[in-house]
Amino acid sequence: MAFTIALAGKGGTGKTTTAALVVRALRELGAATVLAVDADPNSTLHEALGVEVERSVGEITEEMLKSVEATPGGMSKDAWMEYSIQRYVVENPEFDLLSMGRPEGAGCYCYANNLVRGCVDSLSQGYSHVVMDNEAGLEHLSRRTTRDVDILLIVSDPSIRGVRTAQRLSELVDELDIGVAARYLIINRVSTSLDPALQEAAEQSGLELLGVVPTDQEIIKCDLAGSGLFDLPRNSPALTEVRRMIAAAVPALTGSSVQ
Ligand SMILES: Nc1ncnc2c1ncn2[C@@H]1O[C@H](COP(=O)(O)OP(=O)(O)O)[C@@H](O)[C@H]1O
Ligand SMILES: [Mg+2]
Repeated sequence: MAFTIALAGKGGTGKTTTAALVVRALRELGAATVLAVDADPNSTLHEALGVEVERSVGEITEEMLKSVEATPGGMSKDAWMEYSIQRYVVENPEFDLLSMGRPEGAGCYCYANNLVRGCVDSLSQGYSHVVMDNEAGLEHLSRRTTRDVDILLIVSDPSIRGVRTAQRLSELVDELDIGVAARYLIINRVSTSLDPALQEAAEQSGLELLGVVPTDQEIIKCDLAGSGLFDLPRNSPALTEVRRMIAAAVPALTGSSVQ
């Protein structure tokens, strides 16, 4: 069973950036195989990871729904979907990436959406760790069949309002009855040390503060150069903090390559 880490938080707080850094940190800490899942319809995780996506699951689904006649080779639609999803997983020496793209609408597409869920769940089984970057809301997580998020990282910007939004998202997790074993708050893009007012807001949120990620000039440089976060120097401040957080929160990592 893959250990699943999901990212949540309002738009622009740094979910995608943190997700990419988590993928890298997991590998640096000895995770065997990592599947990154871009579950935000406005996909950007591939850019943060520095790879290109040929086809998203949404596009594969659309193709399947359009093909009235039998799928190639007389395969069942289930088998064809599973085959296509595996075929379009982006493979990289450090991680694989699956981009979900836009989901089909509600109602008559239930069948397709269930099929997608089943295929993604079975794909995930083949990895030691799964990192899911999500849209700002938590709809995607609530639509999952297997509710097996081991760690939910709620990312906030360094503002009181941001921390309260993170708290509300955490409350929403309970309302939606999403199965999450552990959840943490991360405050991202902190320029100096954490302001005491933010520290207090974090304490009041009821969420455990896992880490405070600094604003990192190297990330800004990567963004401007259009390169992925695997090009960040290994000792860059944000990556160093994310590596520390992951070592603390994810069990059974060897930590063999940490210096
Ligand atoms: N710690 C950081 N230091 C510097 N820039 C950051 C940091 N975290 C995020 N950014 C930048 O902020 C912007 C938004 O981040 P992103 O991860 O796309 O947010 P989200 O996925 O929550 O919408 C991006 O341009 C990203 O490069
Ligand atoms: Mg994002």
